[in-house]
Amino acid sequence: MEKQLKKVDIIFDKGECYNPIEILDKALERSPDDIINDLIDSGLKGRGGAGFLTGLKWKFTRLQEGDEKYVICNADEGEPGTFKDREILDQVPEKIFVGMTICSYVIGAKEGFIYLRAEYNFLLKNLQKKLDLFNRQLKERAIDFVIQLRSGSGAYVCGEESALFESMEGHRGEPRNKPPYPTVAGYNKKPTVINNVETLVYVAMISRLGVEKFKELGTKDSRGSKVFSVSGDTPIPGIYELELGMTLSQFVEEFADGDAKAVQVGGASGSCVPRKKFAETIIGFEGIPTGGSMMVFNSSRSMYNVLHDYLEFFAEESCGQCTPCRVGCQQLLKGIEAVKRGEKPASYLDDLKKLTATMKIAAKCGLGQSVSNPFNSIVDNFREEIIY
Ligand SMILES: Cc1cc2nc3c(=O)[nH]c(=O)nc-3n(C[C@H](O)[C@H](O)[C@H](O)COP(=O)(O)O)c2cc1C
Ligand code: SF4
Repeated sequence: MEKQLKKVDIIFDKGECYNPIEILDKALERSPDDIINDLIDSGLKGRGGAGFLTGLKWKFTRLQEGDEKYVICNADEGEPGTFKDREILDQVPEKIFVGMTICSYVIGAKEGFIYLRAEYNFLLKNLQKKLDLFNRQLKERAIDFVIQLRSGSGAYVCGEESALFESMEGHRGEPRNKPPYPTVAGYNKKPTVINNVETLVYVAMISRLGVEKFKELGTKDSRGSKVFSVSGDTPIPGIYELELGMTLSQFVEEFADGDAKAVQVGGASGSCVPRKKFAETIIGFEGIPTGGSMMVFNSSRSMYNVLHDYLEFFAEESCGQCTPCRVGCQQLLKGIEAVKRGEKPASYLDDLKKLTATMKIAAKCGLGQSVSNPFNSIVDNFREEIIY
């Protein structure tokens, strides 16, 4: 049966669910292995974009030997069009702290960090105040775990987990080769769980509400709900928590003004879906997954300009470490400019698509690998707007 669009209120709920210490106490009544099994059973997948099963990530880290392990909350939120973590950090930070503390208990970590993007430094004062109180409460309960704040310096690539560790260690924020994965060698080359802000809050809320309640929402491949940042040509831009599994038609009916010609799902590194595919496109891991960004474009928008903006962004943010991305982003940008000016034939777009296929295979990290998503989806669906 087709899912209907459904608004939910789990993440921001401050009602009876909002006593962080009560949520924590309840969670810690269970053994680390039970918590892992609950998370796996819940089907919770990371909300930062890649969608890895949270319970499995924690299990792999728990299995590592040694007592120096870390929990990191990825609050870099650099994806264009994404602004949901900012609101979570502002409105319900204690739920993030609780998720991190549950993780520390499960994997055996004594230190946790929130890596906050530089542009969110205005949140630091409030976060530090609430964190001081929370850390004190942990101490009173003889829980040997402390959370600290770390500020980024404004690079999109530092949201990539291994670049984030490099940045935290005081180096240039450049992605590492993988493997080893963070569960084995993350921050300080020690086993580390890194999760998105929203993922950690869902962990806390699964402890509070129970696995079955979470599983009632969503689909087989995409359990639960998700916070979406809705922007662009919508009369009601903002942040909405919605059940996973809706179609884009349902989304557009609720959020657009009747003239949506495309929705960019998942930010600049995501895919652009044209109107003719709204009905068949499911928002979730079985369709198009998203870290939360939904940008609506109406018929007044030039998709050439949209693609041009994205490519400029990637060319600017490429860390330059690997050739396919450093050179590829520049060539794609110059390439569509040349096609638009009529200096290259329309068929040159197919050569550029081959370049994105190479980048997908050969680029070192997700930044360069994902440029093919916006490029191909816009070129394939809006070719007439790109050519001369
Ligand atoms: C270029 C790039 C930027 C990223 N930015 C973020 C980010 O801002 N926040 C985030 O949670 N994950 C980001 N990620 C994904 C992280 O590498 C990582 O998968 C995520 O933090 C894991 O958390 P999750 O399992 O809870 O989703 C980014 C990945 C890439 C390649
Ligand atoms: S893909 Fe791009 S951002 Fe990633 S390592 Fe290579 S140059 Fe840097």
